[in-house]
Amino acid sequence: MSETPNLDFAGTTPYEDYVQADVLTHLQHPLSDDPGEMVFLVTTQVMELWFTVIVHEWQTAADALRADDLDTALAALRRSTYELKSLNASWEPLAHLTPAQFNSYRAALGEGSGFQSAMYRRMEFLLGEKSASMLVPHRGAPRVHDELEKALHEPSLYDEVLFHLHRQGLEIPAHVLTRDVTQRYEPDPGVEAVWAAVYSGDPQAGPARLGEALTEVAELVWRWRNDHLVATRRAMGSKQGTGGSAGVAWLEKRARKNVFPELWTARSHV
Ligand code: HEM
Repeated sequence: MSETPNLDFAGTTPYEDYVQADVLTHLQHPLSDDPGEMVFLVTTQVMELWFTVIVHEWQTAADALRADDLDTALAALRRSTYELKSLNASWEPLAHLTPAQFNSYRAALGEGSGFQSAMYRRMEFLLGEKSASMLVPHRGAPRVHDELEKALHEPSLYDEVLFHLHRQGLEIPAHVLTRDVTQRYEPDPGVEAVWAAVYSGDPQAGPARLGEALTEVAELVWRWRNDHLVATRRAMGSKQGTGGSAGVAWLEKRARKNVFPELWTARSHV
C-alpha cells in the first residue's frame, strides 16, 4: 500500500465530483472594484448555504414529528442549533464595517437585498412566519417560486409540533389545529397554557425536551436577527435599505418578534 495520496485520476477527482468545488469557487462575481466586496459576497453565499442546511434539518424534524418520531426530530433540531451557531459566527467579517467601507460597493448592489433571499423565507415559513406576499418577488424564478409556494401551503415546523403534542394527549385548542396554515401563526393563550403545563411537569418527558430544543432554535434565530440589525446599524445608520425598506427601523420591528412565541410567554406561568 502506498503511503502518499493518489494523484492520478482518469477524469476529475472524486473530491470534485462530490463537492463541486470548481463550481462553488467560481460563483463569485463582485459588482465593484472594491477589494472589500468579495467578503460581503462570500459571507452572503455562505449564509445561503447554512440557510439551506437548516431548512433541511427543520424539514426533517417536521416530517419526523408528523410520524411522532421524537428522537429523529430532536436529533435534527440539535444539529440545526450547531449550524445556527456557525451561521451566526459568520457575521464576524461584516460586523465591523464603517459606513465609508460599505459605501465603497453599496451602490453596485442596486436594489439587491437579503430581503429577497428565498431560502431565508423558507426558514421563516417553517418557523410559522407565513406570508403569501413574500412569493411576489420570486415570480420570475419558477423553481424558487414553486418551492416557496409549496412551503406556504404546508404546515410549519411549529404547526407539526402542536399537532404532535395534540396526539400525545395535550389540549391544543381545536381552532389552532384547524387553522389556515398559509397564514402567519398568531400566539394563542391555550397553547401557552399547554407549554406552561409541560414546563411544570417532568423535564425528561418528550414534550419538555421538545420545548427546550425549540427554545434553543428560537434563541439562535433571534440572535441572527439581532446580529444582522447591529451590523446594519454600524454599516449604514438609519439610511433606507437597498431593498426599499426603512432599513434599521424595519429590521428592529422584525427582530422584536419572538420565534415560537408561547415558549417564551409560558415561562411567566411556571
Ligand atoms: C452589513 C451588511 C448588511 C446590511 C447593511 C444589510 C441591510 C439590510 C437591510 C436594510 C434590510 C431590510 C430590507 C431592505 O430594505 O433592504 C435587510 C434585510 C435582510 N438581509 Fe441584510 N444586510 C447586510 C447583510 C446581510 C447578509 C450577509 C445576509 C445574508 C444572507 C442578509 C440577509 C438579509 C435578510 C434575509 C433580510 C430580510 C429579513 C427579514 O425578512 O426579516 N443581510 N438587510
